[in-house]
Amino acid sequence: MCGIVGYIGEREASSILLNGLKHLEYRGYDSAGVAVINSELTVKKKAGKVSGLDILLQTDPVIGKVGIGHTRWATHGAPTDLNAHPHTDSDNNIALIHNGIIENYAALKKKLAADGCSFKSETDTEVLVVLIRAFYDEFGNMAKAFRYALKQVVGAYGIAMVSTFDPDRLFVARNGSPLAIGIGDREFIVASDASAIVQHTRQVVYLDDGEMAVIERDRYVTKRIDDDTPVDKEVEEVVFDLAEIEKGGYNHFMLKEIFEQPEAIRNAMRGRLDLEASTVRLGGLMNVIDRLRDAKRLIIIACGTSFHAGLVGEYLIEGLAGIPVEVEYASEFRYRDPIITKEDIVIAISQSGETIDTLAALREARNRGAMTLGIVNVVSSSIARQTDAGVYSHAGPEIGVASTKAFTSQLMVLALMAVKLARMKRMSASEGRTILKALHELPEKVEYTLSRHEQVKEISRAYAEVPNFLYLGRGYNYPVALEGALKLKEISYIHAEGYPAAEMKHGPIALIDKNMPVVFIAPQDAVYDKVISNIEEVRARNGRVIAIANEGNRQIEPLAEHVIYVPETLPFLSPIINVLPLQLLSYYVAVDRGCNVDQPRNLAKSVTVE
Ligand code: F6R
Repeated sequence: MCGIVGYIGEREASSILLNGLKHLEYRGYDSAGVAVINSELTVKKKAGKVSGLDILLQTDPVIGKVGIGHTRWATHGAPTDLNAHPHTDSDNNIALIHNGIIENYAALKKKLAADGCSFKSETDTEVLVVLIRAFYDEFGNMAKAFRYALKQVVGAYGIAMVSTFDPDRLFVARNGSPLAIGIGDREFIVASDASAIVQHTRQVVYLDDGEMAVIERDRYVTKRIDDDTPVDKEVEEVVFDLAEIEKGGYNHFMLKEIFEQPEAIRNAMRGRLDLEASTVRLGGLMNVIDRLRDAKRLIIIACGTSFHAGLVGEYLIEGLAGIPVEVEYASEFRYRDPIITKEDIVIAISQSGETIDTLAALREARNRGAMTLGIVNVVSSSIARQTDAGVYSHAGPEIGVASTKAFTSQLMVLALMAVKLARMKRMSASEGRTILKALHELPEKVEYTLSRHEQVKEISRAYAEVPNFLYLGRGYNYPVALEGALKLKEISYIHAEGYPAAEMKHGPIALIDKNMPVVFIAPQDAVYDKVISNIEEVRARNGRVIAIANEGNRQIEPLAEHVIYVPETLPFLSPIINVLPLQLLSYYVAVDRGCNVDQPRNLAKSVTVE
C-alpha cells in the first residue's frame, strides 16, 4: 500500500525513481510524485497514475542525483495533486514520502499549529515533515531531527526523506511498513519492495521495525530509532528475476499469473514429495513438526484470498489429519480478545507477508504464548521473519492486484501440510502413495484446464452486463465459491456473493430470478448429489446456471446454461483446479467491461494499513 522509492548515487535520480514507481504502482495508484535535490529541492507530483507523472517529467525534467518518489493509496485526504506525496516543510527544504498511517497526527498537528506552524494538505504525512523541520530548527542536525520526530509518532510507517539542509544524504525508516535498501556500486536504491530494486542490484538490506538508516553515496548506517544504537544488518540476495515482474507478452499481469499456475504449483511442491516414504517433506517445519502433530488446535489467520485458502486448509487438515482447525479473519482475531493457550499453534497465511492485520494478529498470538507459523510467498517479508517456522509457497512475484497463483500455491502448501500430518497420525502408506501420485499429476491438469480458456472467454461475453452474480459450492469447494465471487467483484465491480450451496435456501434464494447468474462448483465428490438438488432449486426459479463440472459428466448438461468441464482429481485437491475457470471468468468479464484489471479502483496490493 503506497510505493516508496529513493535514490542516491552518481546517476540522474528522476528516471530511476520513475522506473521504480512503475514497478511499485500495484501498491497504489491514486497519485504519484518525486522530489529531487540539486542546489534546491524540486517537487513534481500529480493526482492519477504514474503515467501522468511521467508526462509531467518529460515536459519539465528535474535534475539531481538524490531523490525520492511515491505512488499513493489514499488514507487521509482525497487523491488530489495537493495531497500527493512528497510533502514538504513550509519553505521547501525537506521532502518526505510515507507509506502507512500516523495515528496521532491530529494531536501532533494541533500542537504544531499552536506553535505557529501552517499546513498545506489534509494528510497525516505533512504533519511529520513539519515536525521534523521543527526539530531541525532546534538541533541543526537532520539525522537527529528525523529520529526525534519519529520517536513522537504513533502508527505504522515506511519513510524516505531528502533535504537541502543535508543534500548528500537519504534518510529512511521503518515501523510496520516494509523498507528495503538496495546496495549498488557507489549508489543505493531504497524501496518498499525489491521489485523496484532488482534491476539495479540484488544485494538488499531489509530494515526491521523501529530502525532507520542514513545513506550516503558510498556508505550507510542503520540504527535503532529509540536509542540511536547502531544495528548490523545482514545483506540478503534477492532471488527473483526482472522477467518475473514484467508482463512477458500478456495484456495484464493477472492473465500472466493465471497462466503461470502450473509452474507455481510445481514450485510449491518441488523437493517436497518423498516418494520413498510416501509422505511429504517440509524443511521449514522440521523443528516443529512433532508439536504440530500433537497440537490440540490450529488457528489459521489471514485476510481476503489468503483467508479463503485458510478455509480450504481447515477442511484439509481436519479431514486428513484429524487436528481441529479454526480459521479467522486476522482483523477480527486481533481485536476480539481471543482465547489462546500455549498449546495452540497459529498459522498466518499471506502472499505479501506484509498485510498489517495479519502481522498484528500474529504478534497478538505470540504475546499470548502461541507458537506461530507462516505460509508466505514473499521471501524475507515481515511475516516470514516474525514467525517461529513456516513454509514458503514459492509462487514467484505476484504483481496483479487480484491474487491468483498465490492462492493455488497456498492451497498446495496446505495440502502438503495436511498430508504430512496425516501420514504421521493416521494415514496409511498406500493412501499416501495414491495422494502423491495425484499431486504429481496436478500441474498437468492445471495446464490442461487453462488451455481451455477460450471457452470461458466465450461464456464471459454473455455476462458482461449483469449487475449481480452468485457463486455456490459445498465442502472443499465452498471456499472456492467465496474466492470466485471475490475475484469477480474486485476487478469487474459486479456485485457477487459466495455461499455454501445449501445455505442458499436460508436467504439468498430470494435473489434468484431470470436475470441472476449462479455459478455452481459441482465436481463429482461426496456432496455432488446435494449440489445437483441445489441446481434444481435455482432452475425452478429461472436462475441462469453456469456449472463447473468434471469431464464426462453429461448428466449436468441439461441443467445448466453453460458447463465448464475440468479434469477430475482427488476431492481435497479439486479447489486447485476448480478455481481456475472462476479466475478466467472474472478476468474476461472485467476486460469485456473495460475495467483496469491490474489496477482495480480503490484497491492496492499488500494492505499495510489497518
Ligand atoms: C484479493 C486479494 C486480497 C489479498 C489480501 C491478503 O485478490 O489479493 O484479498 O488476498 O489483501 O493479502 P496477503 O495474502 O498479501 O496477506
